[in-house]
Amino acid sequence: METSSKVVTIGLIGAGARLRTVVKNLTSAHPGIRVGAIHDPDPLSVEAAQAEFGREIPAFDSVPALVSTPGLDWVFIGSFNHLHSQQAIAALQAGKAVFCEKPLATRLEDCLAVQNAVRTSGRPFAFGLVLRYAPIYQKVRELIAAGVLGELISFEFNETLEFNHGGYIFGNWRRQTALAGTHLLEKCCHDIDLANWITGSLPMRAASFGGKDFFVPKNARHMARLGPDAQGRPAYRVWPDPHGVNPFSEGADIVDNQVAILEYANGVRGTFHTNCNTAIPERRFYLCGTEGAIRANAITGKVEWRRIGHETKLEEVLAGPAGGHVGGDEAMAVELGRTLLEGTPPAATVEDGVRACVAAFGIDQALDEGRIVDLHPLWRQAGINPK
Ligand SMILES: NC(=O)c1ccc[n+]([C@@H]2O[C@H](COP(=O)([O-])OP(=O)(O)OC[C@H]3O[C@@H](n4cnc5c(N)ncnc54)[C@H](O)[C@@H]3O)[C@@H](O)[C@H]2O)c1
Repeated sequence: METSSKVVTIGLIGAGARLRTVVKNLTSAHPGIRVGAIHDPDPLSVEAAQAEFGREIPAFDSVPALVSTPGLDWVFIGSFNHLHSQQAIAALQAGKAVFCEKPLATRLEDCLAVQNAVRTSGRPFAFGLVLRYAPIYQKVRELIAAGVLGELISFEFNETLEFNHGGYIFGNWRRQTALAGTHLLEKCCHDIDLANWITGSLPMRAASFGGKDFFVPKNARHMARLGPDAQGRPAYRVWPDPHGVNPFSEGADIVDNQVAILEYANGVRGTFHTNCNTAIPERRFYLCGTEGAIRANAITGKVEWRRIGHETKLEEVLAGPAGGHVGGDEAMAVELGRTLLEGTPPAATVEDGVRACVAAFGIDQALDEGRIVDLHPLWRQAGINPK
């Protein structure tokens, strides 16, 4: 579906699995968008991107070489998380518009540096919070706006991962906080962003507990216990990864389970639970309001709601899960294409990226320090006045 006759050329920094999916969806939805340059130190990623988008596309050996290429309108960033900020800033300073995958950065000062570069450059910036585009969350927002909940009082949300997904995380660069940041930041900043978006507020107090209890060497026995799948792939290593290591090997310094309790500036309270080794994966919000409740699970795609009352019935709709990220990938491709071709505002901005990161930093501070953390100083540092 092409929305404009304009041609937009993009450069890829970090042409790994995620960015290739984003760009494949984008170029399929909008033939006017094409890839004009690639930078990735891994020849396998360069080869896969050229095979997907065109053998003639030049590969550059550095970020400065790519961002100074004439004729590139946008730079798309899908590298390791600790690199996002410096690469985004280099692209913005070279006058390019930027799409950056989540999270914005692994440190607060780097988040703020990107935000500052967006503001001073005046260049467009779109952020990869793909779930904002997913029909299931649009439906939740629609129900809230229609008054199904009344006033939101409290909620639960979670992201519990199927065991092979957990094995993938613990088998690649995400196992190292130096490259990825914490598990909460890397994997769950989507969910934190949705909670901020749904509550219309920001967390002010956080308590959190977590640890690495499953992906430790003694539990490698579970690979043998389960044996290979029908295609002969070892348990916990079913997801393809050319550089994957044994997820139970030493060296991972992220948590594999974490629980948090949050209180928002508007008085709403919530709990969050993540676990990387589950038999029943969920990505579920359960929202309780003065007049009703909503439950939405992005794994099944089901949204359920009921108004408080003697005769009311539980209603439900299937708002997914067709497509990647319950349809968010496809919806983002259409919307993001409009941003590139027509200049429409993106669904997720650099400010949304900062807010998701600051909330994750605060929750992880509570985990590290073993106490209830007041997030006001972090929000102040970020120049944000929470509502
Ligand atoms: N929005 C989402 O739902 C979603 C989903 C998956 C991943 N992601 C994000 O996308 C990013 C990439 O994840 P992935 O799953 O594609 O991982 P990946 O390992 O497949 O890709 C990362 C790529 O970055 C490259 N890279 C490493 N150092 C680099 C450097 N100095 N310069 C440029 N590239 C470099 C690697 O070679 C690799 O090709 C991460 O930030 C991740 O959080 C987002």
